Amino acid sequence: KAEKNFAADLVKLLEKELPHGVRVLFVGSAARDTGLHGDNDLDLFACFPKKFSREEIVAATIKATKKAISAKWVMHYAEHPYLKTRIGEFEVEVIPCFEISPHDELKSAVDRSPLHALYLQEHLTPAQKQDVRLFKQFLKNAGLYGAELRVAGFSGVLCEYLVLNYRSFLGVVQAASKWRVGEVIDLEGHYAGVKPPFDTPLVLIDAVDKKRNVAAVLSPTNFSKFVSLCNSFLRKPTDDFFFHKPRQFKASAVNSLIKKRGTLSLLISLNAPDVVEDVLYPQIQKTLSSLSSHLTKERFSLASAAYFADETAGKIFFLLEFSSPTR
Ligand code: CTP
Ligand code: MG
Repeated sequence: KAEKNFAADLVKLLEKELPHGVRVLFVGSAARDTGLHGDNDLDLFACFPKKFSREEIVAATIKATKKAISAKWVMHYAEHPYLKTRIGEFEVEVIPCFEISPHDELKSAVDRSPLHALYLQEHLTPAQKQDVRLFKQFLKNAGLYGAELRVAGFSGVLCEYLVLNYRSFLGVVQAASKWRVGEVIDLEGHYAGVKPPFDTPLVLIDAVDKKRNVAAVLSPTNFSKFVSLCNSFLRKPTDDFFFHKPRQFKASAVNSLIKKRGTLSLLISLNAPDVVEDVLYPQIQKTLSSLSSHLTKERFSLASAAYFADETAGKIFFLLEFSSPTR
């Protein structure tokens, strides 16, 4: 309640300083009661009519925000600039966007968010909102929650659409336990049974934008992990699927397991280039897949290949496991 009242106050303050006709919307999971405990981000979108230019909406938002709310605002740059600050326990973001109607051509990548907010707020029941939280925690516990490329998992909006489509958390898990690669979910029937032009293991057509696949970043590996996770859960549902204690491994135990496999493992360590996370991870993945394909071409048979990035140490690691130590 405190969070909602606080957001409503900020909305009023901002609207007073913004040009006439610009609406401020409180969107994101906090506005819909679908956020996880401890996740305090308040996403405020300033929606400008399309007659404004991109430069104008950015400049007007910065000016109005700094005037309306005194805080230490920091500029961030995604597809276009937005402002962020911390007020008490809240992470507040003010993001300029253009007001569009469903399926309209986007003027900027964030224009859809207010439409998601309206659609999901209208369609999700209070019980389903609770199930969204359960589902997010289920995924988070398995390392599958988040659409950032480091995770390549499920975004918050994808979770909400899935619960809506299958009615409940259990409905999602039961359906997903039988998913095959090429699963298509089209809530609003935009494609009327015709195969949509997307080629990912899971395709979920955005209810408010039929040209967008909401599951685009979910990787094939994570798709399979999720299907198998759902099967395990249905076989024996326990609390561990939501809050498990991380397992501790002794280096010596790992060492002897590796030895027992009879393969040869090679670890390559590199310095990470100084780029943002969403650029770094695709580069790492491309490097690993190119390394693997070159080695395979030279007839080294790879049993497995994996990567790990330690961003605080600025290091990247590639682990290659060869079937034949002699070769
Ligand atoms: N969004 C999106 N696709 C993404 C990330 C974000 O469409 N991969 C849009 C959604 O409309 C979302 C909004 O941006 O509601 C805010 O993003 P974010 O805070 O990342 O997601 P939430 O839905 O608020 O979920 P979370 O509980 O993780 O904060
Ligand atoms: Mg959020």
